[in-house]
Amino acid sequence: MEYPVVILRFDPEKDAHPHYQEFIVDTAPHERVLDVLLKIKSEQDSTLGLRKSCGHGVCGSDAMLINGENRLACSTLVRDLKSNRIKVEPLPGASIVKDLIIDTDAFWTKYQEVMPYLVNDEAPPDRERLQRPEEHEMIEESTRCILCGACSHACPTSWANDSYLGPAALLKAYRFIFDSRDHADQERLRKVTSDHGIWKCYTAYNCVEACPKDIDITWHITRLKKASLGL
Ligand code: FES
Repeated sequence: MEYPVVILRFDPEKDAHPHYQEFIVDTAPHERVLDVLLKIKSEQDSTLGLRKSCGHGVCGSDAMLINGENRLACSTLVRDLKSNRIKVEPLPGASIVKDLIIDTDAFWTKYQEVMPYLVNDEAPPDRERLQRPEEHEMIEESTRCILCGACSHACPTSWANDSYLGPAALLKAYRFIFDSRDHADQERLRKVTSDHGIWKCYTAYNCVEACPKDIDITWHITRLKKASLGL
């Protein structure tokens, strides 16, 4: 079956502005949008720029705006789109490096800001630092994040405020603040309660809608807000 596929193209070496280009692709409803893009790249235009790696919803590299929603191209089937026209654009709210590739520097800077690693100066035990099942339960959902950025690039506060940490970084902060083995929770809490932290979240829930791993990010940010009241 033939599908029209419209892609936002931009090559900073040639184009003054981004523009849309339409391709006709012979594909099947059970194929993934990633397959469609790779087919275009291999059969019609090898210059098409996109990121992808694992192809299985693990690495988070192929988040993009697909028919108006932030999704992973490798986890979105053509038949999921409920439209015979496929429109693919880069994630919103970031500068375009080329075609579907965005500049992720700001995203990773904010991620680093919340200290995304375990802090524990105690001598490590022989095997591993253990926690009880109920302690792990507190952070289990947050550990499912694959850092694709779909949430942060769906967030209206992030679009309006370049310095806002954004849902992905705040979720990562939660992941370590509520980890029973971590000792830097107070330091991280101070970081997320700064002027560009949790209180800039107005619970729009766009991040929850966008998350390909069904993480209720807004709930986690709300837990951070409650924890910060004890500072
Ligand atoms: Fe890795 Fe899609 S290619 S998540």
